[in-house]
Amino acid sequence: MSTDTEWVKWGQQDPYFAVITEDRFRAGKLNDEARQAFFDSGRLHAGYVLDACRRFINPAFEPARALDFGCGVGRVAVPLAERVTAVVGVDVSPDMLAEARRNCDLHGLTNVELLPSDDTLSSVTGSFDLVHSCITFQHIDVPRGRRLFARLIELLADDGIGAIQITYAKAYHPDSYGQPPAPPPAVPPLTVRIESRAPSFMRAVLGERPAPPADPEMLMNPYSLSELAFMLQTAGVTSFSVDFTDHGGELGVFLFFRKPAR
Ligand SMILES: C[S@@+](CC[C@H](N)C(=O)[O-])C[C@H]1O[C@@H](n2cnc3c(N)ncnc32)[C@H](O)[C@@H]1O
Repeated sequence: MSTDTEWVKWGQQDPYFAVITEDRFRAGKLNDEARQAFFDSGRLHAGYVLDACRRFINPAFEPARALDFGCGVGRVAVPLAERVTAVVGVDVSPDMLAEARRNCDLHGLTNVELLPSDDTLSSVTGSFDLVHSCITFQHIDVPRGRRLFARLIELLADDGIGAIQITYAKAYHPDSYGQPPAPPPAVPPLTVRIESRAPSFMRAVLGERPAPPADPEMLMNPYSLSELAFMLQTAGVTSFSVDFTDHGGELGVFLFFRKPAR
């Protein structure tokens, strides 16, 4: 199932909270202090990614051109752009991209290109020394995610480094090794109709008040590590390194790998 429409809504309704689901980042609550904390987390993350590329793969790694797939409002793209020559950020939500542009402007950055995403990343041209993605694949259904993962490998320059985070299991399913158990067989829905006079009574007392918009959906998809390893190996990658990630029980891996020169 495609969740693009949900991410378009997240971008319109609550872009910072959609990136880090903490109450202080909710639209309407986001103050200067929270905004600072939000970008501090991105700065820490960008530093971690570059350090891990050097620690695991190439101690002399100094990327010139970097791609941030699923860049959101620029939490990582902004600090990356302060450390490399040029950044391309790609996202499926136009409002996330517009907010990322505002954030680049606020930080005085002119080396960031922000592009809309599709399943072949058709707007993205050229190759990259660093291809990065974090907390994004989990929101994309697996068949599409596999194709996008392969496309990201393709976009790496020879000797470029991929730093891609993917979820693979859920801590709250220990009995099935982190995988969601098979759903029970479908039963026909039971329809119950309940009539109530409460809503009109409440309207009379409280007056008409529009309900706040409900949060859009946010799916969390686990990927198969074997499939990702297969894609890397058949693309010519000879090894990869892993740091584990855990976002509230969504267990993942940050994969670091070098694309060999052809
Ligand atoms: C949780 S946010 C993470 C943003 C950013 N990576 C960060 O760490 O700050 C996930 C982002 O992925 C984007 N996204 C979801 N599906 C996508 C797709 N198919 N292609 C590109 N971006 C997508 C969303 O719009 C959202 O901005």
